[in-house]
Amino acid sequence: MLRNAQTETKSNPALTGDAIPVFKPLIQQQELDAAVEALEMGWLGMGSYVGRFEEGIKSYLEAPDRYVAAVSTGHAALHLGLLVAGVGPGDEVITPSFNNIADFQAILATGASPVFCDIRDDSLCIDVAAAEKLLRRAPKRSFRWTTTASWRP
Ligand SMILES: Cc1ncc(COP(=O)(O)O)c(C=O)c1O
Repeated sequence: MLRNAQTETKSNPALTGDAIPVFKPLIQQQELDAAVEALEMGWLGMGSYVGRFEEGIKSYLEAPDRYVAAVSTGHAALHLGLLVAGVGPGDEVITPSFNNIADFQAILATGASPVFCDIRDDSLCIDVAAAEKLLRRAPKRSFRWTTTASWRP
């Protein structure tokens, strides 16, 4: 199985230089070993790694009195984060126009609407000045922010 994945990786145009990469995942032997170990434990959803990860994040954030909940995807994390922030139907969420589709889906899943904001050519991140203009155009609306895209070429 792992051998097939490695073969597929070698023919992936995003990783071979035949496409313009937005990002390139950095997966080294340590991550591969940890993934195999987690799979071999037989607890596919909630093995001991999950608790260790949550405790590690809590320690990193120096927030022993807070809860940390691991979820299975970035999409799920964004959805949960928006719900915790109180985003719901009728809200509009300013989000970078160059972004992962999961961000838009997470916003829509709350019942809110994404408001696309330009990005900067030099960083590919949200243009804060453009976001301020969007906020000024609708001063009476209740806007909320996502700050998820942070790709750098
Ligand atoms: C900025 C951003 N948002 C959301 C996601 C979605 O993550 P997932 O595929 O784990 O749902 C990604 C994944 O690369 C991402 O880069």
